[in-house]
Amino acid sequence: MTSTCRAALLAAALLASGLAACATAPGRPVLSGDMPPPPAATAAVDYVRDVHSYARPEVARVTHVDLDLAADFQRNILSGTATLDVSAEPGAQEIILDVRDLDISRVRDAATGSDLRFTVGEEQAFIGRPLTIQLPNGAAGGTGKISIDYATRPNAAALQWLTPAQTAGGELPYLFSQGQAILTRTWIPTQDSPGIRQTYTARITAPAELTAVMSAEMLTPQGEAVSGDASRKAWRFRMTNPIPPYLIAIGIGDLEFASLGPRTGVWTEPSELAAARAEFPEVEAMVEAAEGLYGPYLWGRYDLLVLPPSFPFGGMENPRLTFATPTIIAGDRSLVSLVAHELAHSWSGNLVTNATWADFWLNEGFTSYFENRIMEAVYDRDRAVQEQVLAWDGLQAELAELPAADQRLHLDLAGRDPDEGMSTIAYDKGAALLRTIERIVGRERFDAWMRGYFERNAFRPMTTERFLEDIRTHLIAGDTRLEQQLMLDQWIYQPGMPSNFQPPVSDAFANVDQAALAFASGGPASAIPWSGWTTQQRQRFLGWRPEGQADNSGWLSQGQLADLDGTLGLSDAGNSEVEYAWFQVAVAHRYEPAVPAIEAFLKNQGRRKFVLPLFQSLWAQGDWGRPIATRVYAEARPGYHSVTANSVDEVVGWTGR
Ligand code: BES
Ligand code: ZN
Repeated sequence: MTSTCRAALLAAALLASGLAACATAPGRPVLSGDMPPPPAATAAVDYVRDVHSYARPEVARVTHVDLDLAADFQRNILSGTATLDVSAEPGAQEIILDVRDLDISRVRDAATGSDLRFTVGEEQAFIGRPLTIQLPNGAAGGTGKISIDYATRPNAAALQWLTPAQTAGGELPYLFSQGQAILTRTWIPTQDSPGIRQTYTARITAPAELTAVMSAEMLTPQGEAVSGDASRKAWRFRMTNPIPPYLIAIGIGDLEFASLGPRTGVWTEPSELAAARAEFPEVEAMVEAAEGLYGPYLWGRYDLLVLPPSFPFGGMENPRLTFATPTIIAGDRSLVSLVAHELAHSWSGNLVTNATWADFWLNEGFTSYFENRIMEAVYDRDRAVQEQVLAWDGLQAELAELPAADQRLHLDLAGRDPDEGMSTIAYDKGAALLRTIERIVGRERFDAWMRGYFERNAFRPMTTERFLEDIRTHLIAGDTRLEQQLMLDQWIYQPGMPSNFQPPVSDAFANVDQAALAFASGGPASAIPWSGWTTQQRQRFLGWRPEGQADNSGWLSQGQLADLDGTLGLSDAGNSEVEYAWFQVAVAHRYEPAVPAIEAFLKNQGRRKFVLPLFQSLWAQGDWGRPIATRVYAEARPGYHSVTANSVDEVVGWTGR
């Protein structure tokens, strides 16, 4: 038995589950026939106005997207046809889609082949343009099919086209997409609002050496011949659950698959596969734990795609196929809570979806809470609480910086890039609200309500108001004392943390804080019990600041920093979270010897959560940090995805476009 297998069995035994986890050899997954039947036609939806979309779903809406696209790695464009099923109200004349940087060449009634009139409107920042199309004859009061011939542009914000040199293998190119929040419109002409759900199918052609994967069932595990072109292959996909368009995702590269369990697996470039497999033996157990908490997993398979290092996020919950940064592969499974998080989105986010980005907390707050419950179930309470405390540390730091209006769970994002709302408030204040409710009503009652919430609202958009209605109807049920105790309106509509919040406390951090104080007071680094600590304890140690310490003034001497780095090997820790936390300490102290490692870190991966704050910290260090930031950014920027580059551009005043 391989050690990976043994680890999987250990994890499985924990839950008395999944012996089959090792019976499946690496190879292609079982790809079809395993998606539960789609939900019955969704009940009428009350559409709410989405300020980030031109769509008017109450007049005419897209219900299905069929893509037939060719990936051109010479020109970095996707081109072909999107055929949309639309459903329209009586009297409707046109349908409005969202597009940004798309070249539309022709629009036709797919039933008759006749041309349909269309106009592409004015460009608005972030949002793009409305594509207004005359409805096919007979579609008003019923349905129709519209086909759109189009091409993306090389700079499409959702897409990153990687040269072979930017991949692990170094020989073949790579393409991946990132749709959330409003980037799908840069590669698919559709109604790009999270409240408008669509099923999808796709046929993608690509150079024959590459494999295409999508957030869908793969219908062609080996790919199919493309008639008249032996150099290419076609891949077909099907998503039968209606999903918001930000979850349509694609990856094309030199990909291989390894099975992790009966319905779980991982895709990566071949050279990364063994490490990925070894990192994720618990994924099957996580799916089982999640189902045990909040109901059946409705998406069939749960696979991971570990992307090249420029992937701008830690993870993205694309249905059936979570996209993940390679920076979570630490060699010791210490960062797998990210998988628990993306998996949890299969309920909070992908089943019950924020209707607009103003209610992003309904996706991320629920998911962060759920993630931590999965970690508690698969590991133990101690690990879960350590992660809660780290999140609370981060939230406190953010609360100290954010304007009051952005400390509320429900946000006003009119005129703003939805990306701006995406702070730790949604995640960690959101999760803290649910944890507070759990503490007050008891876990059993809370879990029963959560299960019901997912069931009642599956495949539907959710708003803060509807959430309040649901919890008042199904949990509070007229208990006025409970209503008062919960302070829901204050949590949602007021800044800061309400008085019924109790900060998490981890016993495992008490000796960490002691060691940090002892070291800051002049003790040697050799006295720090580093090797016995978890990654979370190490993060806590490196995030420690003396009481009342402003973040950017030095509390350690250069000699202490050298002792710390030399004794603990921090610049070369091999764990992205630990290295990141150390680099923040180093930058705050203008610790020159760490600069080469910081530079390498910024060039070797493009995860925004690491890259953006490090550039901010360098910038904050004025005449010391700004020249470093400017020099490193000029070299690193070409390797970043637009999501990361756009954020950092503002920090360093990048103009060299
Ligand atoms: N859905 C988010 C990623 C996202 C958020 C993309 C907003 C675009 C806009 C994903 O589930 C997420 O939260 N990822 C986190 C990891 C998580 C463990 C907190 C990340 O990428 O750091
Ligand atoms: Zn998330």
